[in-house]
Amino acid sequence: MRGSGKLITFEGIEGCGKTTQVDLVCRFVEKRGLPLLRTREPGGTRIGAEIRKMLLDPQNRNLADAAELLLYAADRAQHVQEEIVPALERGAVVLCDRYTDATLAYQGFGRGLDRPMIETLNRMATGGVCPALTLFIDVPVTVGLARARQRNHQDGVADTEGRFEEEAVSFHTRVREGYLALTASEPARVKRVDGNRSPEETHQQILSLIEPLLVN
Ligand code: TMP
Repeated sequence: MRGSGKLITFEGIEGCGKTTQVDLVCRFVEKRGLPLLRTREPGGTRIGAEIRKMLLDPQNRNLADAAELLLYAADRAQHVQEEIVPALERGAVVLCDRYTDATLAYQGFGRGLDRPMIETLNRMATGGVCPALTLFIDVPVTVGLARARQRNHQDGVADTEGRFEEEAVSFHTRVREGYLALTASEPARVKRVDGNRSPEETHQQILSLIEPLLVN
């Protein structure tokens, strides 16, 4: 950790309900009157927003796996330096929608890239800034993908941000298995939350995990 703030990250497959849960936790932290930064990867900075467009544009179907990995690392390096470290230093609760575990799950387990190499890149990009808590919101792959595709078509973002939703079910299954493996390997930091319930029930489970961290 850096400074007196707390970095809390939210992870999961497409359509797991992360955005809704980050919204609910934001409201909770605001009500407590604590300083807050809500952010996301990729795209938490102006430069990152440019990188996000490249990464998620379905027209970039031929993006090389190594290029994809390096773009996520570049987005993260910028984000940590420009947003996350300053927020932690001013004592903020930082709620981040995806972080280093997403690269291990998607590029490592999903694409099959070398995991020790990803860990090295993660260390370089973060300068060692590690989450105090990571919430893995778990839903069955079929449930998550159905939700994500419906949402993307409703919101009209499928044409600009649909590159991962186009991946096969087997890819998303490997990503989910990756998150389960990360949960098992770092049980003190990564907590599995059941996302296949009502948003309010999921929120209550998340609050029970977050509250101890907010007590100084
Ligand atoms: P989002 O839709 O949750 O904002 O995430 C954008 C996509 O980027 C999502 O499909 C997961 C993917 N992703 C990776 O593949 N690797 C990463 O390191 C991150 C942060 C996201």
